Amino acid sequence: MNDKQLVALQAAKYVKSGMLVGLGTGSTANYFIAELARLQQDEGLKVTTVASSTISAQNAQSLHLPIVALEHIGSIDLYVDGADEITPDMTLLKGRGSDLVKEKLLAKAATQFIVVADASKLVAHIGQNFVIPIEVIPFAWQLTKKSLEAIGGTGNLRPNAANDGFWITSHGSYVLDMKFDKSLNASTLNALINNTPGVVEHGIFYGLTDTILIADSGAVTELRA
Ligand code: A5P
Repeated sequence: MNDKQLVALQAAKYVKSGMLVGLGTGSTANYFIAELARLQQDEGLKVTTVASSTISAQNAQSLHLPIVALEHIGSIDLYVDGADEITPDMTLLKGRGSDLVKEKLLAKAATQFIVVADASKLVAHIGQNFVIPIEVIPFAWQLTKKSLEAIGGTGNLRPNAANDGFWITSHGSYVLDMKFDKSLNASTLNALINNTPGVVEHGIFYGLTDTILIADSGAVTELRA
């Protein structure tokens, strides 16, 4: 069993029958989804799920997990998702794909948000290994980019896979992939980007995490806020 699977199985221990469970996106979240389906099949677990992305919704449906649409929920019991970066103060960088809007909504709506990751995701500061994905309203991208440059950001619109246009997220936004000076702490950067007109959402998850499960060479460590 690899570390991503190990940590996903650990997170599944928090799931109780009757819960409404948010499903994350990515390879680690996929192990969690598979384990939920196994518990439903083998041990009679009864949960309802809500997905953070179309791909996770399809995955859950193919495994016969009951699923409801995000627009029909007011809160959820538990959200389990991976991350691209995790800092010592439990700030996350997420959304390397195109699904950070739903991911952040579910993280906020959850009574408990558990992050599952292997030790490769631990960093000293946000933006250490990846650019910060910032979803922007398409017609606003140029003005929003200028505003982000004014607070020290550098970067550009994410190209599409064929490199002949721009990447469009699940919600019809463009993505500005930006780097910022590492002296800006996560709290400040989060507030500055939140205050930028034209930004739909961004990949810094600040103050949203309850529990982080990190697997490293077969051992799981639990961090709590
Ligand atoms: C998806 O948009 C991201 O926020 C993922 O949670 C992240 O990329 C983690 O993916 P892995 O579990 O595959 O590393």
